[in-house]
Amino acid sequence: MCGIIGIASNKSVTSNIINSLKKLEYRGYDSAGIATIVNGNIDEKKCTGRVDNLEKILFKNPSKGLLGIGHVRWATHGIPSQVNAHPHSSEEVSVVHNGIIENSNELKKKLEQSGYKFKSQTDTEVITFLLTDFLKEFDLVEAINKTLKTLNGSFALGILFKKYDNIVVGARRGSPLAVGYGPQENYLGSDSYALKSMTNKITYLEDGEVCIISNNKVDFYNSKNIKINKKILTLSNDKYTAEKGDYKDFMSKEINEQNITAKNCVKEYVDQLRKDINLYNFPIQPKDIQKIILIGCGTAYHSCITAKYWFEELTNIPIEIDIASEFRYRKIKLSKKNLYIFVSQSGETADTFAALDLCKKNKVKTCSVVNAVESSIARSSDFVLPIHAGPEIGVASTKAFIGQMLVLYILAIKISQIRKEISETEYEKKIIDLKKLPDLIKKTLNYCQNNIPTIAKDFLKAKGSMFLGRGLSFPIALEGALKLKELSYLHAEGYPAGEMKHGPLALIEEGLPVVILAPKDRYFEKTISNMQEVIARGGKVILITNETKKIISENIRFTLEMPESNENLTPFLMTIPLQLLAYHVALLKNCDIDKPRNLAKSVTVE
Ligand code: F6R
Repeated sequence: MCGIIGIASNKSVTSNIINSLKKLEYRGYDSAGIATIVNGNIDEKKCTGRVDNLEKILFKNPSKGLLGIGHVRWATHGIPSQVNAHPHSSEEVSVVHNGIIENSNELKKKLEQSGYKFKSQTDTEVITFLLTDFLKEFDLVEAINKTLKTLNGSFALGILFKKYDNIVVGARRGSPLAVGYGPQENYLGSDSYALKSMTNKITYLEDGEVCIISNNKVDFYNSKNIKINKKILTLSNDKYTAEKGDYKDFMSKEINEQNITAKNCVKEYVDQLRKDINLYNFPIQPKDIQKIILIGCGTAYHSCITAKYWFEELTNIPIEIDIASEFRYRKIKLSKKNLYIFVSQSGETADTFAALDLCKKNKVKTCSVVNAVESSIARSSDFVLPIHAGPEIGVASTKAFIGQMLVLYILAIKISQIRKEISETEYEKKIIDLKKLPDLIKKTLNYCQNNIPTIAKDFLKAKGSMFLGRGLSFPIALEGALKLKELSYLHAEGYPAGEMKHGPLALIEEGLPVVILAPKDRYFEKTISNMQEVIARGGKVILITNETKKIISENIRFTLEMPESNENLTPFLMTIPLQLLAYHVALLKNCDIDKPRNLAKSVTVE
């Protein structure tokens, strides 16, 4: 889970590499490094921490090569340190790597026996020495090919050679890699976002492919070493800029633009004139679907749980949900009659991609719900339903969650209508309600801005906290706890409220903050009973509801009154105070909001 960049140019590449690495910091930020060729030799500079530190080093000690590679790291093999930072160089080659080399221990032993001395604890250094070794005997393309064949695991690589001092080489297996084309220079990057300020002309490498980039041309080879031609895509300008604007951080921007996320998503799928949902050429006949399996990780998985409730209510199709890292290794009988839906903001999550790959190999029907439409998951699935949220930069997913839920809800409504499981009147009513969602989100955002900072203070000194909900509010409780954990590093548990008496109630003690999600729905009375049990044991309750008339307890610490809405829309509204709560607790704790410790935006390793 790292970011890589490579540039071959006719002018110094350092400042463009630094700028691109800053964009890639969402993929890893525990160390950074750069290598260029200066006076015929590899010049490597590395540091721990952020790209800013690397920039300071380069400011004092510039490196003015015409080609270079750069890396931001998220440690997998070896602690974050200067020596483990990439690039990893020998006299002859320098390598940046995103992925994991699974047979690195065994390769390292062999290379050590041949006299190579390893400096780092990384798996990447074996690639450096393998290449160095093969280059003694073979030409460039053959040496690369032999090296790649020796490696097990996943990688996206950027490589510089002392001997071939006008090219940067890229290669991929399992981890994403894009090639960009500019005036008198060409690029390599973990994604198109890293190259955005330099070009919108992009080619994506597929697994097993290699590219050789110089300042005036790019050659591609397939896994059989045969030269191939690849399509150049012109990427559209994003509808939303990936800049913070007046916001303090990306996360507050992304939370606050969720009404726009919802508006754009609804606009893309709902035909305003005909009051109809358009799924464009959805290739699967909903009548023929026997079962739907929804798969994702983390926040994306939480959107799958909400979708289970919607699909079960609106259709007769049996629904299963699965965490991608579990699904990919289970002994499951995949069926051609089922639809497998993969949910991923980045579209690059290694576990989700592997789960999709398993489905592809078994030739079953696949669909993806993604934000990054050029991603590996989008490109590999039979059909893509984009969420149209625009770039999400904050590591903690916020607006993409709203977008994922929305697309899944829209899909459930449409499938239900096609299968005639809801009446046309109900169908139209659901569409009318959908169109009200952006305004309801805006109203909720405005309402929460003033209340949440005060509530956040209660979480600072507490031992932990709990988030409880039933039905559609249960996944939102999980999401609220996840957001608080990842942003503020405080322990938080999300639970279905009905499960409390089966164990977690033992955790409730005087002053423990407990967030209760109790919208006006069929579970309301039950959830309120669970809330009373918490209050009776001294829990500090933060009640979030749109049914204030029926609440009679005086011992509620805070009550947040959500706007009235259709029951199926409450997960969208309930999510907002929880995102803001996590945000404000993290702010009070002075945490790095956009880049929480130990986490990265795009989890491209297992
Ligand atoms: C949490 C978060 C993660 C991601 C998960 C899947 O805020 O962002 O839990 O949701 O890593 O990522 P994607 O959606 O890119 O597959």
